[in-house]
Formats: sequence, C-alpha cells, structure tokens
Amino acid sequence: MSPNHMLHMICSSEKIKDNTMQLFTVNDTDIVVGRRNGKLFAFNNSCPHRGASLSKGGLKGDNIVCYMHGYEFNVFTGKLENMKSWKREDTWLEQNSEWRKAGDLVLYHVNEKNGTIFVDI
Ligand code: FES
Repeated sequence: MSPNHMLHMICSSEKIKDNTMQLFTVNDTDIVVGRRNGKLFAFNNSCPHRGASLSKGGLKGDNIVCYMHGYEFNVFTGKLENMKSWKREDTWLEQNSEWRKAGDLVLYHVNEKNGTIFVDI
C-alpha cells in the first residue's frame, strides 16, 4: 500500500440506499459510491471511454450506463459489458475502432463499519 493510499470516511451507511449511487470528492478524486442488492461498490467517476461523468449516468442491473455514448461497465468487476450500437441513425457517423476502445472502470475497495462507509483511495 503506498503512503498516499488510505481509508477515507465517505458518509453514513444510510445515505447510500439500495440500488442508488452518489458522487463524492475525496482528495480531488471524484468517486461514485453506491449499493446494488445490498452490496456496496465504488468507482472513479471518469468514464474509461472518453472521461464523461459517470454519476450523470444510471444503473442498469449491475452496470453503470454512461450518459455520453451508452457504454456499460459492471460496477463490481469494472469490465466493459456493452457498447451501444453506432448505427442507430442514418446521420450518425460511424466511429473508428480506435475511438470506440475503452479500458475498464477504476474500482476502489469500499466497506462499512459501525454505520459508516469507507473507501480505500
Ligand atoms: S464517454 Fe462514456 S461512453 Fe463515451
């Protein structure tokens, strides 16, 4: 564990209701903390595709759907699960494969203790 890597108190447990998420800023890092079927998750707010704010997207099952281009990332594994089709409209420009590439979501360890949620950043 690096010296800059530590547990940060995020909020009280009841603030993160099931199947919701919220944006927090910890040491200038924007993170989204949420809960899905009782299980907490935390990931960097920056979309691995083109950096859009993922907190503006929505949860769909275990995935966060980016509002910008509709990519879906699993909030527990970080994996890219779905890419929206780019051929929906005739006027839509087909993007090249390089542009379409995206890495995985940056995840953080999250846990709760005595009614408080902590994230390891
Ligand atoms: S920036 Fe998120 S899908 Fe493109």
